[in-house]
Amino acid sequence: YRVVVTKKLVGDLWLDVLTSRDFRVEVCQSELTLSQQQIMAAMGSRCDGVIGQLTEKWDDTLFVALKRAGGKAYSNVAVGFDNVDVDAATRHGIAMGNTPGVLTEATAEMAVSLVYACARRVVEADAYLRAGKWKNWLPTLFIGKLLSRKTVGIVGAGRIGSTVGLMLVRGAMMDLVYYDKYQNKQFEAKLDSFARALAEHGEEPIRWRRVDSVEDVLRAADVVSLHPNLDKTTFHLMNAERLKMMKPDAILINCARGPVVDETALVEHCRATPTFYAGLDVFEDEPQLKPGLDQLENVVIVPHIASATVWTRAGMSTLAACNVSSVVLGQPTLASLDILPHVNAPGATQV
Ligand code: GLV
Ligand code: GLV
Repeated sequence: YRVVVTKKLVGDLWLDVLTSRDFRVEVCQSELTLSQQQIMAAMGSRCDGVIGQLTEKWDDTLFVALKRAGGKAYSNVAVGFDNVDVDAATRHGIAMGNTPGVLTEATAEMAVSLVYACARRVVEADAYLRAGKWKNWLPTLFIGKLLSRKTVGIVGAGRIGSTVGLMLVRGAMMDLVYYDKYQNKQFEAKLDSFARALAEHGEEPIRWRRVDSVEDVLRAADVVSLHPNLDKTTFHLMNAERLKMMKPDAILINCARGPVVDETALVEHCRATPTFYAGLDVFEDEPQLKPGLDQLENVVIVPHIASATVWTRAGMSTLAACNVSSVVLGQPTLASLDILPHVNAPGATQV
């Protein structure tokens, strides 16, 4: 069997999975995004499966070529799969995999990092100090926002969104509102039990509620963290109108997918509202930023690295290798992988 891997991956375990199952592995070495032409050239006339990246557009053209090369499986090294035309894969009988579960905590920790960086103006203050501008300790210097007992709003309370919510509720003692078309009962039970524990110890319990719309979250929350999948229904979910529904001193976090936010509208909003902050890991036209975004002091930006920890990336790489090799060998695939001792992937099921 032959597997093409379109980018260098992390750790050794993913390669062990493939070689121990008698796969020949071809790793493309370029750090640039491969064109469809280059991917087809790498697949050649014999390719049983591909481990690819979110920067590649896996549409009908590539799935036709993979099918023609005898391919059975494709896996993203990502939980998101908006770069994959799943219908096209299905049409050509190719199984599609992603890497849920292993990156939940890392991604949530980045979202929380961005919340604190925005609230306490960490990046602005760092730049100020490095620029030699600090003359004196002042009670008025870099006044930020207290999170404790404010309200975090979660839009999309799946694995990552609910974890961000719990981290901020338990860690920063925030109240919480969430919107998701599905009720997340496990999440709600954890919120209830934390609230009860506080009450039992004579502390003011945190409050939480599930609301009926994104708009209800936007109006109620001091911090809004976005965690939906990107699809037609969530493209530009945060447009100019919805940005204006948020409190003028709110914080907006996006660790999901760039196009969930109308980035041009966000630049306008941040420019017009200096008390409003945004923390972004993802962008509409990666690696390009919309004009003006990187000039704004009330924006914290990092280059799509929310899952970038060694353990997480090794886990994602290994899960992708398991996805592809299991399908090719006709063995059961893992919906999620529990190889990491500290990662508990709730809802992980063996299919
Ligand atoms: C990264 O963005 C992912 O979807 O895993
Ligand atoms: C600040 O440094 C304080 O001591 O309050």
